[in-house]
Amino acid sequence: MARTKRYKNQRRVIILRGMKYLLIITALLLALAFVLTKFVFKGGDDTDSAESGTVTVSVNETTPPPEEEEEDENIDNKWAMFLVNKKNPLPADYDSRIETKVVFESWREYFLDVRAAEYLEKMLKAAEKDGIDLYVVSAYRTIEYQQQNFDNSVQDRVDKGMSYDDAYADTLAEVALPGESEHNAGLALDIMVEEYQNMDDDGFEDTEAFAWLDKHAAEYGFILRYPKGKQEITGIIYEPWHYRFVGVYYANEIKKSGLCLEEYYEQQGWTDGNGKATKMRGPWEEDDKKDDPAETTVPKETEPKKTMAATPHSEQKVTIIV
Ligand code: DAL
Ligand code: ZN
Repeated sequence: MARTKRYKNQRRVIILRGMKYLLIITALLLALAFVLTKFVFKGGDDTDSAESGTVTVSVNETTPPPEEEEEDENIDNKWAMFLVNKKNPLPADYDSRIETKVVFESWREYFLDVRAAEYLEKMLKAAEKDGIDLYVVSAYRTIEYQQQNFDNSVQDRVDKGMSYDDAYADTLAEVALPGESEHNAGLALDIMVEEYQNMDDDGFEDTEAFAWLDKHAAEYGFILRYPKGKQEITGIIYEPWHYRFVGVYYANEIKKSGLCLEEYYEQQGWTDGNGKATKMRGPWEEDDKKDDPAETTVPKETEPKKTMAATPHSEQKVTIIV
């Protein structure tokens, strides 16, 4: 009996020891698994949440995603895609940053940013080949000249009996203030035909030239900037004659979308929701990261650009070009 009891005690001791070793081995295995998961698979990064059980591959944060790189390759003249309007005036020194070139001559010379000029030249030639003689009636304007246009337009209305306030408000819907005009950026031009240059109505939209531009302008990087029915958004009346260079890629995208430039910016998420561009702000974006409104106001006096048409302003006094 006593032997059996001793035998039973020995067995119990062996089982208890076995269980102890088993527990130690299990604890060691768990510890090993923890170390492997945390430091080997995750490269030592312990900032992720503990829920993540996936293997994370560390990437350089400055490398753009492959789709973005690919998309960029399709975009020509990305520099030209920026908003110029009441909420997005040009930087005060923009005029000194651009080089202009003569693109059209009639009773005076018309200039455009050299980078856009080659596209316009091609467009004018292509239209001519199709029997359409496009006629440029306005292109790059100095800040000073824009101010004259604005003042002349107000005065013209006052002379016709309008109050100054009404004349000013009316003009604002047709002529941009200096620094808020795409003409000041050397990227906009007003195109008509020699026989029809009336900017007091929408008659230009009934010409063959307009139909040609409607079909082909985007192929050369130009958009109809102030389309019909968009005045509430652009703040500017329908101008069938005003074309703006944004590059071929964006011109086609905008045309396909049926949106005006302000709407396209909103759709892309490039504005603060209140019309102010937060992305694709312009070629100055890189060297002007500060978002200081004082940086974007236009000084009262700006010297006329040296490359501007030699035509004295006095000759243009009574001409109002919107
Ligand atoms: N007519 C357009 C809005 C301009 O003055 O730029
Ligand atoms: Zn215009």
